[in-house]
Parts: sequence; C-alpha cells; structure tokens
Amino acid sequence: MKNRIIVALDNDSPEAALEIVRVLKGEVGMFKVGMELFPLGGADLIKRIREYGADVFLDLKFHDIPNTVAGAIRSAVSLGVRFVTVHASGGKQMLEAAAKAAEGSLTTILAVTVLTSLDDGDLKEIGYSTGTRDTVLRLARMAREAGIGGIVCSAQEVAAVREVVRNGVVLVTPGVRLPEDAVGDQKRVVTPEDAVRRGSDFLVIGRPITQSADPVAAARRFAIHMTRGC
Ligand code: C5P
Repeated sequence: MKNRIIVALDNDSPEAALEIVRVLKGEVGMFKVGMELFPLGGADLIKRIREYGADVFLDLKFHDIPNTVAGAIRSAVSLGVRFVTVHASGGKQMLEAAAKAAEGSLTTILAVTVLTSLDDGDLKEIGYSTGTRDTVLRLARMAREAGIGGIVCSAQEVAAVREVVRNGVVLVTPGVRLPEDAVGDQKRVVTPEDAVRRGSDFLVIGRPITQSADPVAAARRFAIHMTRGC
C-alpha cells in the first residue's frame, strides 16, 4: 500500500523538500514536485530525489500547442520521472502528441480534467456547454482515446471516471484526509479507505504527512487505512 502514496512536496525550498524525501523514502512510493518547487529546484532537484531511490511525479500541467507539449514531455522523460501531468483540455491532438512523445519510456502521462477549483458557473463563463461532471467524463474519455496512461481526479469523480476508462489507466487522487486530520483548504475530502474503495490507484497526500510532527508515523497510518479499502 505504501507504494501507492504520493507525497506532495509543496514548499519553496529545494533543501527542505530533500529533507522530507530523506525522511520518507522507503515509507511512500513517490514524491510530487509542482509549479512552486520546480522553478527553484529544476532538473537538479529531480536528479537528487531520484538518487534517494524515489520516484518523481512532475506536476507541471502542460497545456500548449502539440509540438511544444511533445517537447516538454520529452524533457520530462529525459529526467526519468514516473508521472507527468498535462491538461486534457489542450485537445486531442495535443494529448496524442504527448502520448507519442512518452512512448517506450517509463514515464506515464496523467491528464488533468477539470480543476476542482472550478464549478459549473466557471465552466459556463469559459464557454463550456456542460457542467463539471459531464466535462470531467468527456475529457477522461478523450484522454484515454488519445493513449494517455492516467487521469488525475478528485475522489468524488474517481468511480465514474473508472467506468469510463476501465482497463489499465492509472487514477490518481488528491484531497485525502484521515478522519482525525485538519481539512485545511481542501473542501471535498475523502478518507484513504474510501479513495481506494472507489478505485484510486495512487493517493496524493501533502500536509497531513509533511507537516506532521512525525511524518513517518503519519505515512504509516495512511497506508494502514488504505488497506481497509481493498
Ligand atoms: O496538502 P494537501 O494534501 O492538501 O496537498 C494535496 C496536493 O494535491 C497539492 O499538491 C495540491 O496542489 C494537489 N491537488 C489538490 N486538488 C486537486 C488537484 C491537485 O489538492 N484537485
């Protein structure tokens, strides 16, 4: 179970992030480096995390013309990251170009469907004619058809997305909390047990582990709770 935990390194200090990796390697499966940390730590940080024997999830949510995204994916592949994100709303050609650029590598592309910060009103304002749920499912289906290997989705959507993408597509879920955890700025949280039961393959967990007084114990508690969802 512990290999299905991804710890979000959401901070602005590469050295602090590496300290978390040092403490938690062996306790979790992967570390997520996102837009706050990557511009500061860059390729060197990815390399140093991997030197600890840990896998990296590069969460930069690429969204550009197909040629540019294909190049970005090739760069991510060259860093040896296990997961990298793109926005599904970049369109089918962009997704196909991304999938092709990662072919034959050990990097799996994850498509982000609709950000959980957006609601039906926001989508209407952008010009979408469907609400969040239908849009999530449509984008997930399109990503699968384009050959994308995984989807990032909230635990609310994970069961419905699983229906749409069925075989072999990896589902990754943030917004996970133990019953006793502070919710923070997350609005729709689920427990690790529920996330696994609903069909999540990997759980992204940040503050409940990284800001715990005992991160190792916290990671182990999550792994135990996940087992109950099987
Ligand atoms: O600290 P916490 O567990 O809330 O961190 C969750 C991580 O997952 C953060 O890196 C956050 O940006 C990311 N995330 C999220 N909700 C989404 C998508 C990504 O919390 N819908």
